[in-house]
Amino acid sequence: MLVTRRLPKPAMDAITSRCDADVWEDDWAIPRDELLRRVAGKVGAVTLLTEKVDAEFLDAGPDLVIVANYAVGFDNIDVEECTRRGVMATNTPEVLTDTTADTAWALLMATGRRVAEGDRFLRSRQPWIWGPEMMLGQDVHHKTLGIVGFGRIGQAVARRSQGFGMRVIYYDTYRPPPEVEREFGAEYRDLDDLLAEADFISIHVALTPETRHLFGADQFRKMKPTAVIVNTSRGPVIDEPALAEALKAGEIFAAGLDVFEKEPEVHPDLLGLDNAVVIPHLGSATVDTRNAMGLLAAENLVAALEGRRPTTLLNPEVWEQRAARG
Ligand code: GLV
Ligand code: GLV
Repeated sequence: MLVTRRLPKPAMDAITSRCDADVWEDDWAIPRDELLRRVAGKVGAVTLLTEKVDAEFLDAGPDLVIVANYAVGFDNIDVEECTRRGVMATNTPEVLTDTTADTAWALLMATGRRVAEGDRFLRSRQPWIWGPEMMLGQDVHHKTLGIVGFGRIGQAVARRSQGFGMRVIYYDTYRPPPEVEREFGAEYRDLDDLLAEADFISIHVALTPETRHLFGADQFRKMKPTAVIVNTSRGPVIDEPALAEALKAGEIFAAGLDVFEKEPEVHPDLLGLDNAVVIPHLGSATVDTRNAMGLLAAENLVAALEGRRPTTLLNPEVWEQRAARG
């Protein structure tokens, strides 16, 4: 078994008690050539979003039965290529839904109410005094929240907004059942209408060719100058240089980013802007949730090796083919 980065202890214990593990022990990602070398002869691999699982990787690991991704997002995995070769691919949905929604909420509050900027300001030790117009932000409560991508995480963000008396509008290519809309009083908008109406926009789409640069200069221009945008999904959903320009020009009020277009790089202009709050991809980064993700990835890995169906399989057709073959 190949484990491409050390996971939280409960997950490592779950793996090493059931099989031999070749673990990349460094805190930095395993170099590509080392990855390709080590996957040779392995029947299973736990991968992170820093590892590309593509034809080259699968060629290097012809014995693979399963690739268990330690993340809900799987844009690093070519699932079709896995399916073509009969390799199961899994992710870690659900266990991180609420934690990621909390992260989006933290960014929304921090940007709207200038929390990070205020903290930086005090640390700069400049003289200050309470003032009627000092560091004014945007109210969150009773405003309109626009959710782009109304899946599990998007809905969990909508649930949080109810305590703040917010109105919820959403855009998605998929329409949830009417009871989901009713639960949050959420109304569907096409993207342009959402951009024009929302005070806060939170992005919860998967990264696909269709969502790459879903937000660019045109979209920022359609937003209110008081609007805040938050991204905890994947960086390339936003054209980052265009966002930096929009923030500089005051086309929108602020942005809260957990993910970046060229991660781990952050566009240098963003680092100089007080109306950008940037954190290093911490969406699911709590002790409990990382344990839960690790246990789910470990369980998927072990299940596949022991001939059981992994619970969060991305390509169930591979399992069905295997089952049909006996
Ligand atoms: C992290 O970004 C994940 O997709 O779980
Ligand atoms: C995405 O996969 C989600 O859980 O919303």
